[in-house]
Amino acid sequence: MVFESQHPLVKHKLTMLRDTSTKPKKFRELIRELSMLLCYEATADLSTAPLEVETPMGRAMGSELVDKIGLIPVLRAGLGMVEGISEMMPGAEVWHIGLYRDEKTLKPVSYYNKLPTLPTVQVCLVLDPMLATGGSAVATVDILKRWGARRIKFVGILAAPEGIARLQAAHPDVPIHLAHIDDHLNEIGYIVPGLGDAGDRQYGTG
Ligand code: PRP
Ligand code: URA
Repeated sequence: MVFESQHPLVKHKLTMLRDTSTKPKKFRELIRELSMLLCYEATADLSTAPLEVETPMGRAMGSELVDKIGLIPVLRAGLGMVEGISEMMPGAEVWHIGLYRDEKTLKPVSYYNKLPTLPTVQVCLVLDPMLATGGSAVATVDILKRWGARRIKFVGILAAPEGIARLQAAHPDVPIHLAHIDDHLNEIGYIVPGLGDAGDRQYGTG
């Protein structure tokens, strides 16, 4: 399943994010805000259990989240997606996965992964703003499944149709939540119209 946000705030913030004149500080702020909005949509089906609390006026029946959530940012561009989401879900664990895309072969190269032997969470949210060829997302989900993760969702900002098709073919059980599905990949594997290099634009490199 692919979910493309229809929320006006997402559309507005995405337009600012794409703009070449948006500087790294603003770019990071927008990534943070978009991530929170997308996470809100991606977590709409999480399980809750009844919880009764005492208010100043009496007893109220409410709910609490039951699943332990893992946030899996893909370094480095995924890092900017963690902060806002983890503020919203302070109980979530954060497990970093380091991958970069070899610019010649476009294949993902793994350089960091420190997951514990057994999975500690029930729901994993993979955070990476860009789903281009899909190589990095497939490799990340492969790692999480080998770890024993059962329920995985991908939360990204922009995707190319090619990347969506690749992730769905490899992992049809992983829902994909996005701000927007763009037109195509160019000859060097960049999303068009896209926003350029998400890591470089966040951290002022490149
Ligand atoms: C970007 C992006 C994804 C990957 C997407 O990372 O954040 O991880 O490319 O491309 P793919 O779908 O073709 O695999 P990049 O390799 O630029 O690393 P960085 O975040 O360290 O800059
Ligand atoms: N990685 C990016 O940061 N941007 C793209 O368009 C593709 C991969």
